[in-house]
Amino acid sequence: MTDNPDRAANSMWGGRFAAGPDAIMEAINASIGFDRRLAREDVEGSRAHAAMLAATGIITEEESGAIREGLLTVLSEIERGEFAFSAALEDIHMNVESRLRELIGPAAGRLHTARSRNDQVATDFRLWVRDRCDAAVQGLAALQRALLAQAEAGAEWPMPGFTHLQVAQPVTWGHHMLAYVEMLGRDSGRFADARRRMNECPLGAAALAGTSFPVDRQMTAEALGFDRPAANSLDAVSDRDFALEYLAAATICAMHLSRLAEELVVWSSAQFRFVTMSDRWSTGSSIMPQKKNPDAAELIRAKIGRILGANIALLTVMKGLPLAYSKDMQEDKEQVFDAADSLDLALAAMTGMVADMTANRAALEAAAATGFSTATDLADWLVRVAGLPFRDAHHVTGALVAKAEAAGCDLPDLPLAEMQAAHPAITEDVYSVLGVANSVASRTSYGGTAPARVREQIARWKEILA
Ligand code: ARG
Repeated sequence: MTDNPDRAANSMWGGRFAAGPDAIMEAINASIGFDRRLAREDVEGSRAHAAMLAATGIITEEESGAIREGLLTVLSEIERGEFAFSAALEDIHMNVESRLRELIGPAAGRLHTARSRNDQVATDFRLWVRDRCDAAVQGLAALQRALLAQAEAGAEWPMPGFTHLQVAQPVTWGHHMLAYVEMLGRDSGRFADARRRMNECPLGAAALAGTSFPVDRQMTAEALGFDRPAANSLDAVSDRDFALEYLAAATICAMHLSRLAEELVVWSSAQFRFVTMSDRWSTGSSIMPQKKNPDAAELIRAKIGRILGANIALLTVMKGLPLAYSKDMQEDKEQVFDAADSLDLALAAMTGMVADMTANRAALEAAAATGFSTATDLADWLVRVAGLPFRDAHHVTGALVAKAEAAGCDLPDLPLAEMQAAHPAITEDVYSVLGVANSVASRTSYGGTAPARVREQIARWKEILA
């Protein structure tokens, strides 16, 4: 490629340039294709900066007023889809400023006093990511409420609890739903923590060193809802750890969603029938008329791929960058935009799916009784009532499981004489712990699966989410 003499030098920074950039240079350099999503934050940040410039006497009230008014016009043009974005103007910051100049004239040139695109973009992006932290917290609360409603409907319904996806011990449906409410609660906490840490304002850091103008950084920080101005100008313009923290929280959250999605896929299969998914969240097959596929669940299960990918991509971009700003950092946005869109969509879809699904009580209960799921109850009974050491009780119970397996029946179906042949201390009373309802009712330790405990936790979460 060669210089194209028809391309004019950039009006924002082209003073020392005789010619404009190569077309490919423009293509690799421009971010307007994606950072237009920062338009609202950019205008907000610029309006706060302009107000501060007037309050400190750096520009006049008249100039500041025209700038702030003009910026609102620019934003409304963008929001109405009437704005002509230009790749020659690189990014959202210069597109907005350039249009402002067309609207209000030379006063627009005063807006960039005591500022650089470096602190500008750091501010815009923080505002944007901060918003998405809030959106994630909201989305998580909605999903938690949907899970809580499911938990409440089936607080005492027995279902198999699994380890290694082998039936382990009976648990309650409510308990299983609440396990996810807990996980999502921690996710929410991670987004809230990230938000707290990122809530410092880069404005006033300028390019990297701060500014010689008498800016009031407290004022701009406050106007934009930040807790304080960032304390080191180099750090303020050069780190993207706030975006990485968002992505890390999003990755962990997407991992949780993926696990729940996987359970829904398995549970809605003909082999399990634990849940029936609503038609609203399923799709059919173009060849097999009987099919009802859990596509939404599968797609949610997959979203972790791109969200974790974004996390790794941005970490890799940031790794080894010297202070302060480098253009590498422009590669932060698309990753975060895509991850945030994916996460919000996954949360919304999961919320709808959970709210609309039906748990099949009978299938859950029948499955809960299979796989010798109350063997531990039998062993515990031998310890508690017959006084055996747990290891011996474990052995005796194992022998009884083998007997039942050979006889093709479940533990409660073994006659007392067979039980006593395995250990003479066994009495009729043993049958009182072998049913799944007895089993779950006995798990009353704090955080256990007993319906009474589950109801306590439902009440606790209702209060938290109210
Ligand atoms: N579009 C740029 C970005 O997203 C804005 C900052 C550009 N700063 C600069 N010194 N070229 O990072």
